[in-house]
Amino acid sequence: MKVIFVNGSSHANGTTMQAVKEMQKIFSAEGVESEVIQLGNQPIRDCIQCGYCGTHDACVFRDDAVNQFTALAKEADGFVFATPVYYAHPSGRILAFLDRAFYSVQNVENPFAFKPGASIAVARRGGTTASFDVLNKYFGISQMPVAGSTYWNISHGLTAEDAAKDEEGMQTMRNLARNMVWMMRSFALAKEQGIPYPETEGEAVTNFIQRED
Ligand SMILES: Cc1cc2nc3c(=O)[nH]c(=O)nc-3n(C[C@H](O)[C@H](O)[C@H](O)COP(=O)(O)O)c2cc1C
Repeated sequence: MKVIFVNGSSHANGTTMQAVKEMQKIFSAEGVESEVIQLGNQPIRDCIQCGYCGTHDACVFRDDAVNQFTALAKEADGFVFATPVYYAHPSGRILAFLDRAFYSVQNVENPFAFKPGASIAVARRGGTTASFDVLNKYFGISQMPVAGSTYWNISHGLTAEDAAKDEEGMQTMRNLARNMVWMMRSFALAKEQGIPYPETEGEAVTNFIQRED
């Protein structure tokens, strides 16, 4: 069983990583493997809606980890998207990364569907729930059950040291990891028992505004 984290911070050991590490402790205690895709401090291209992925099943930009992530996602059982808060929204780099990842799998078997997803937002002070809401949008449109915790998945701090002192924040991360483990095990058992995935309709694609000429 494996969870993939995407850390939208430029800092490999910042406050966002502190929250990630708190979840990893639980995953490793429960025998769940985890891997962190660290977005880092290099530029990440935004989606340009060129349509290339519609015919090639991969993003046209190959100079960062987006295509590796969607390939790895096929083998993963759960996902955690973690971001620092920038002006009350997720970092631009995680949005650029996830927009391209999710858009590029629209025409293939979706590697995210029916797997639990959780988002985490970390800030010095404000904007966490707004950022958390934005990241949760990727799950809702991809048939991903959203994992919750005992509070919204947020923690506070300016340095990793501070973040570790946010006791309720760290507790929220540990409970979130436990809840994800429970969900992943339950889904694996359902699969083993032959419970089929739900049928999905996809014929209706209606654009605003429908005009009658
Ligand atoms: C451009 C920018 C905007 C920020 N905006 C906010 C904000 O809206 N609210 C807040 O509490 N902190 C804000 N911060 C502080 C970061 O959220 C905070 O330092 C966070 O812990 C950084 O996470 P990291 O160490 O994982 O990179 C901002 C930082 C930057 C660089």
